[in-house]
Amino acid sequence: MRIGLLGAGNMAGALGEQWARAGHEVLVGARDPGKAAALAERIGYGARSGTFREAAEFGEAVLLAVWYEGVADVLEAAGPLDGRVLIDCTNATAPPDFTLRTPSVAGWIAERVPGARVVKAFNLCHESVWRLAPPPVGVPLCGDAEAVAVVAGLVREMGCAPLHGGGLERAGLLEATAAFALGVYFGGPEVGDPRGMFPPIKIAAEGVGPIAAGSTSR
Ligand SMILES: NC(=O)c1ccc[n+]([C@@H]2O[C@H](COP(=O)([O-])OP(=O)(O)OC[C@H]3O[C@@H](n4cnc5c(N)ncnc54)[C@H](OP(=O)(O)O)[C@@H]3O)[C@@H](O)[C@H]2O)c1
Repeated sequence: MRIGLLGAGNMAGALGEQWARAGHEVLVGARDPGKAAALAERIGYGARSGTFREAAEFGEAVLLAVWYEGVADVLEAAGPLDGRVLIDCTNATAPPDFTLRTPSVAGWIAERVPGARVVKAFNLCHESVWRLAPPPVGVPLCGDAEAVAVVAGLVREMGCAPLHGGGLERAGLLEATAAFALGVYFGGPEVGDPRGMFPPIKIAAEGVGPIAAGSTSR
């Protein structure tokens, strides 16, 4: 598949390398041609570089990997994105309390580029996780079923399990999950360890065993 990257930073580098390694053609788009070329070289596997518009036109799937503040500018530079699967990994959260600046960046993006098939994905983990081979996580995806199926294929090729998170109207929940987790991660030791927030599925589904006699918990 041809994949365009909008952005030449950490997330574009981490995911672009995964997909290039899996055999996809990658074109890095950025406002600074030098940064785009440098990332294409780091990614390797024949990755090329160009403008935002060139990356958008090149990609059957296009990753949007810029900070929230730059999204409007980058989408304008990219053009209409008609028919493209637009993978949105952005988080519109602000330290120190990691509140949301908008209820759903993905929903807002879908309104700005109505011809694109937006899928929210990859926003829950730090870029260092996406560099692992394979990243040891499930990847929740929100979007229309056909577009989600395309991204699910890319997720499987990275060695991860896709998790079907529902339609794009649920993307705001995924963004809120990221904001909450970031707040806990950066909250310091007194907040606790966020890795315990989600128990292993076996415990979540089956509980920890029979409830002891006299217990008041349900
Ligand atoms: N880093 C993570 O661990 C992580 C994890 C999950 C989700 N995310 C989300 O992923 C997105 C990208 O994060 P990142 O860490 O990859 O960021 P990054 O390394 O800072 O890269 C951001 C890219 O966006 C470009 N950019 C920013 N503002 C722009 C503007 N106004 N016009 C054009 N280009 C602009 C930058 O270009 P210049 O270099 O020219 O400034 C750079 O290529 C963010 O929304 C973030 O919340 C990040």
